[in-house]
Amino acid sequence: MVSSATIIPSEVHFLTNLGMPMQSLDQQIKDLKKNFLSQLDKADSQDALEEIRITYLGRKGKIADLMDQLKNLPLEEKKEFGPQLNELKKFCEITFEEKKEHLNHHRLRQEQRKKEFFDVTASLPNMPQGSLHPLTQLQQEINDIFISMGFEIAQGPEVENERNNFEALNIAKDHPARDMWDTLWLDNTKNLLLRTHTSSVQIHQMEEKKAPLAIVAPGRCYRHEATDATHDFMFSQVEGLFVDHNVSLSNLLATMREFMRKLFAQKQLNMRVRPSYFPFVEPGIEIDIECPFCNHGCSVCKYTEWIEMCGAGLVHPNVLDFCGINHQEYSGFAFGFGLTRLAMLKYSIPDIRLLHANNVEFLKQF
Ligand code: PHE
Repeated sequence: MVSSATIIPSEVHFLTNLGMPMQSLDQQIKDLKKNFLSQLDKADSQDALEEIRITYLGRKGKIADLMDQLKNLPLEEKKEFGPQLNELKKFCEITFEEKKEHLNHHRLRQEQRKKEFFDVTASLPNMPQGSLHPLTQLQQEINDIFISMGFEIAQGPEVENERNNFEALNIAKDHPARDMWDTLWLDNTKNLLLRTHTSSVQIHQMEEKKAPLAIVAPGRCYRHEATDATHDFMFSQVEGLFVDHNVSLSNLLATMREFMRKLFAQKQLNMRVRPSYFPFVEPGIEIDIECPFCNHGCSVCKYTEWIEMCGAGLVHPNVLDFCGINHQEYSGFAFGFGLTRLAMLKYSIPDIRLLHANNVEFLKQF
């Protein structure tokens, strides 16, 4: 480390005592700095660092040694070399600390890397795999079918007001049809409620987008209902709405037929239409499909060979007008079916409450 040009310590003392030439101390400072930096640069461990600290910055280290020499110098030289030595000491201390921090950081990074090491050849621990909830699976399947037919997927809030859930849908305050939807009210002013059907999304969509419009809105609904195997206070519906020029019942039926053909894997299922009543459609109908699970009656269709599919109809002119769509110019169809009911049918689920019981044994089957 000590170059041949450097004066070894004992000689330094000797020479200094005799009044060392300035040049020499100056050179020593330069050499010390050079050696210190080159050693520091090579240091790659905390031990190596500690050695450097003792050698240069220690109580009996090289810098302390030079400071000692200073004592014996004449005042002139003290004035010149004192500040230089102080600066050297400060420089070495700072550089040393920086290196120490750098090494520390490096070591932490190495440790982190070791921890993060990922063995791609390791065999997997036996981890149970999750799956999507049957309702989610079915909802995604239904969304895809309608998207393929040109519909957009829409959403609306589950907390609604009376206006969107009833009034705008042509269900006036004193209308007896309100009995059809046992409402869960959220406040005493009887304004906020949990939506009783997804038909409220029709209002949001028509007010926002006007016509023409083709949307499907899946979502949860709530009713004040005693629960049993086939009724629940919370269930999912899928709402459909199509508004354009000259929309007719034939468009509605063709859409439903195509949807069911796709959902029940190309099986040609007959559909049956019955007149029905919903205040927001005119005419109102209910659509049944031939039971996809049997030929001559089974427990799913309760031996009738038909399964109720959805409520539907042509959008009532009052509803179009309410949303600012001219009913002279536009017409539309709407339908709503129970996603929960459909999932129960499709997967032969005997009790609606299983769908939100969070029973892993049950959910594992899907
Ligand atoms: N909202 C109705 C229900 O909950 C279903 C429906 C939707 C009927 C759209 C007609 C048109 O029963």
